[in-house]
Amino acid sequence: MVTISIDGIRTVVPEGTTVLEAARDLGIAIPSLCHNPGLSPYGACRVCIVEVKKGERSTIEASCTLPASDGLVVITNSERVRKNRKVLIELLVSSCPTSKTLQDLAANYGVNRIRFAIKDKNCILCGLCVRYCKEQMQSGGIGFVGRGTSRKVATAFGVTPQECRNCGGCEWICPVCERACTAANLTNGLCGGCQNLMHVETCELCVHCSESVNARGHRVY
Ligand code: SF4
Ligand code: SF4
Ligand code: FES
Repeated sequence: MVTISIDGIRTVVPEGTTVLEAARDLGIAIPSLCHNPGLSPYGACRVCIVEVKKGERSTIEASCTLPASDGLVVITNSERVRKNRKVLIELLVSSCPTSKTLQDLAANYGVNRIRFAIKDKNCILCGLCVRYCKEQMQSGGIGFVGRGTSRKVATAFGVTPQECRNCGGCEWICPVCERACTAANLTNGLCGGCQNLMHVETCELCVHCSESVNARGHRVY
């Protein structure tokens, strides 16, 4: 067993536990895209980053591939983490603006502009489909081909391979295919359908109830 500290909470976890798993066991929310508890860790999307304190210094690490080790001190939601995560989300949305999962993530993290060129690739190379096919279905239906900017998921020679069991798992697990954003009004890569980009007025006596305010404001009892 190893003892680590996450957001000031000391916890004891079995060796081999990742920081993401340990944090989630404590009820601490860390977003993830390429992680699935039933599949091997991959560390591709980086949205699960956390800050690891090392004395006066700290590093930013992907929590889904970071093993918990004795004395590790982790902060999951520092300003540095939030800033880095927002840039990563911007990058991911620029690759795949038609993913509702990504649009929701952008909305949750207050991303209201995309500073990268919109590519609309329909894949963030998270590798979930490839790992699902190989590890859960023991099939080799799909895999990564190409390098750098031409890297993509494909079947061998572009035809449905004999190994494919038509389980549909690769689509079901994909954060882009599984929940496609149907909005036709993408503005600079961001969909305004679910995200409220308007400034929300608060009551004179705001109690942070998280309700939106109508024209006359809330009644304050
Ligand atoms: S549908 Fe075919 S390619 Fe997709 S996960 Fe299932 S076996 Fe693999
Ligand atoms: S197709 Fe979907 S699941 Fe597969 S790598 Fe791309 S984003 Fe991930
Ligand atoms: S969930 Fe950790 S890198 Fe993707």
